[in-house]
Amino acid sequence: MKYRFLVAICYLFTLTACAKTTLRTATENKFLMGVAVNVNQFTGQNPKEAAIINEQFSSIVPENCMKSGLIHPEENRFDFTDADRFVAFGEKNKQVIIGHCLIWHSQLPSWFFVDSLGKDVAPDVLKERMRMHITTIMHRYKGRIHGYDVVNEALNDDGSFRTSKFFQILGKDFIRLAFQYAHEADPEAELYYNDYSMEKPAKCDAAVQLVKDLKAAGCRVDGVGTQGHMSLDNPSIEEFETTLQKLSTLGVKIMVTEWDLSILPNPYKHSGANVSDRFKYTTELDPYRNGIPKNIQQEWNQKMMGMFALFIKYSDVIDRVTLWGLNDRDSWKNNFPVKGRKDSPVLFDRQNNPKPIVEEMIRMANQKY
Ligand code: G3I
Repeated sequence: MKYRFLVAICYLFTLTACAKTTLRTATENKFLMGVAVNVNQFTGQNPKEAAIINEQFSSIVPENCMKSGLIHPEENRFDFTDADRFVAFGEKNKQVIIGHCLIWHSQLPSWFFVDSLGKDVAPDVLKERMRMHITTIMHRYKGRIHGYDVVNEALNDDGSFRTSKFFQILGKDFIRLAFQYAHEADPEAELYYNDYSMEKPAKCDAAVQLVKDLKAAGCRVDGVGTQGHMSLDNPSIEEFETTLQKLSTLGVKIMVTEWDLSILPNPYKHSGANVSDRFKYTTELDPYRNGIPKNIQQEWNQKMMGMFALFIKYSDVIDRVTLWGLNDRDSWKNNFPVKGRKDSPVLFDRQNNPKPIVEEMIRMANQKY
């Protein structure tokens, strides 16, 4: 009897000792746990947040500093100041560094599509500009940036191609070209297609077809990113599971690349992350300005945990789960899509305290399945 008791105590002790205590360590055999980082965090201006990022996350992606408007403001001028510091930060932390994003219709510098007279450039000129943009960035970070969102958000929610300037000038071939230039620039780098609202069936089907077409055309495609900008009512866990199932048929890695879950009411059934979407502020749309009610917080906790359980269930095909921002204070969801609202969509609160579900996530990730 006494012997059994001792064995049980030893067993419990071993279990506790083996349990990993941060998100980074608890998920290490499942998927990379990533976070989007901002300039203050990786330039040493916010050491507390930098320390949390190092402790809790195994991968980082830049929230803004590698977007073309910032890194390539003029045709013959790149500004690598922040991107260099971002990469150095990830290396110091031994994190897997992701580049975001090479070709995106948004946050583009005005010169990219026009000639000296302000007219649209010819297809060959745009191809050369894309090639130069992609090649210069990828050569600089060769062997240091592990993978890139090569093309971001090229599809509409109905599955048609977004009529961006890239599409207008080059047709859908701009996507194939971007993957080709990226592979030529750094043959070792992983290359991803990334988009939001992938739980919309038509969009997901179109993304699946796009990746198949790219592969049939001989492109290297290592993964698909489903951004994962969510709200309490959209998408459901079942809808997101269907997305994961569809994407997993491709045989490429799946990444949840920009995970956050808004706690605020969803105006006009808005979904997705189209940065230009905007709705007028009303107090009805901002009901928790004096504090989040317990039941709503609970609903948020449950949905986050339900999604996290789903990611763990699919951890054989999910390679990375990246939160879009560390704390509520800095989240892009403040003011989007309604200016004047404060949201609480990520894992750390405005004072950088972990929300209670962080402990729960660590516990869940530590369990054997
Ligand atoms: O840096 C300027 C600053 O100098 C200026 O004073 C300030 C005034 O508004 O703007 C600052 O730039 C802002 C930038 O974020 C940095 O804070 C831009 O206006 C603002 O548009 C930009 O928003 C970013 C948005 O993409 C547009 O690029 C968000 O932070 C970023 O979270 C968001 O991320 C995107 C992903 O890249 C792609 N998927 C959707 C996701 C959410 O929109």
